[in-house]
Amino acid sequence: MKRILVTGGAGFIGSNFVRWILTEQPDCFIVNLDKLTYAGNLENLEGFLKHPNHIFVKADINDGKTVEEIIDKHKIQTIINFAAESHVDRSITGPKIFIETNVTGTLTLLQAACDKKIERFIQISTDEVYGQLGPTGKFTEQTPLSPNSPYSASKAAADLLVKAFGHTWGLNYSITRCSNNYGPFQFPEKMIPLMINNALNDKPLPVYGDGLHVRDWIHVEDHCKAIWKVLAEGKSGETYNIGSSCEKQNIEVVKTILKLLKKPESLITFVKDRPGHDKRYAMDSSKINSQLGWQSLINFEDGLKKTIDWYLQNKKWLSRITSGQYQQYYQQMYANR
Ligand code: NAD
Ligand code: DAU
Repeated sequence: MKRILVTGGAGFIGSNFVRWILTEQPDCFIVNLDKLTYAGNLENLEGFLKHPNHIFVKADINDGKTVEEIIDKHKIQTIINFAAESHVDRSITGPKIFIETNVTGTLTLLQAACDKKIERFIQISTDEVYGQLGPTGKFTEQTPLSPNSPYSASKAAADLLVKAFGHTWGLNYSITRCSNNYGPFQFPEKMIPLMINNALNDKPLPVYGDGLHVRDWIHVEDHCKAIWKVLAEGKSGETYNIGSSCEKQNIEVVKTILKLLKKPESLITFVKDRPGHDKRYAMDSSKINSQLGWQSLINFEDGLKKTIDWYLQNKKWLSRITSGQYQQYYQQMYANR
């Protein structure tokens, strides 16, 4: 039985990962530690909260004592760190919490991992640490770090700390850097769910700048499978880029969403650009493809249709989150457990 501490497992990618593991990997036991910030919802784990191989703990990754107690009590072998402040726009208006969670929080986990002799540490990072690309080329694992937003700077700092702990104390680690995810349970502040939600409510779809910025999209399920591959077969000290070679201009994605929802393009509204907005991301994933045999399986058109269907079928989830009633909802849900 693999005994894993997942942090941030009530957020978008973390909850998808926890549900995937509990469904596909019966020999794994998960302790899921999450602070339940605005982005973390127990409802994302509905049906899995009482799974015999899953325990949820509401805590902060900065709480080293609790982390160490969990490691001892549950004989944790591996830590996978998803916990983060993840939204670039929020990092521009309020960067401090990004340093506290993404940098100091990761440091706390690394110290606990070394003190408790954790066997493996997986840091979930992002393509944004590489900065931005011009019209050609892709990020490889050798691309120098050149983060442009407070969010990406905090993630790059965390990556460097992980490497430093590997170098200095021999921590067995791998870092994954993934491109833009989409799929079920994504908080509707991120572009795809925000545009779906606004379109459903006939509200304007705010496209930043000229809408020609490019993101490289991957379905969250493909990302989760890649993380599993890295956890199981990745080499210590290595970084793995994860992407599905699916570059799209934002405006193209927004128009596709409107088409799939049969809504008019007149809903598109060009708004003031994000300060320092990175122009283009594109991932070269040939290392994980060739060394670990991972390939993405979900093409964007199918994945986006499935995602839109999920939001259509989960309108209650969406409206609770967007109406701000969610905090109250989860507190009740948590208290009743
Ligand atoms: P998210 O914002 O949906 O979820 C983050 C989770 O972390 C939430 O459940 C939140 O409650 C929890 N959290 C925040 N601060 C915490 C703290 N101090 N202690 C414990 N838990 C805390 O984010 P996401 O989109 O699921 O991203 C997960 C990870 O993947 C992040 O590290 C992010 O940098 C990385 N990533 C995201 C994407 C993407 O497209 N979303 C792409 C590449 C990498
Ligand atoms: O690349 C990986 C990163 O992808 C992750 O590390 C981050 O955690 C995740 O939030 C995401 O960052 P982005 O800034 O790329 O995602 P976001 O959904 O915020 O924006 C995607 C693109 O859409 C970006 O070019 C900005 C644009 N955008 C976004 C919003 C919210 C708009 O045009 N309008 C919007 O309202």
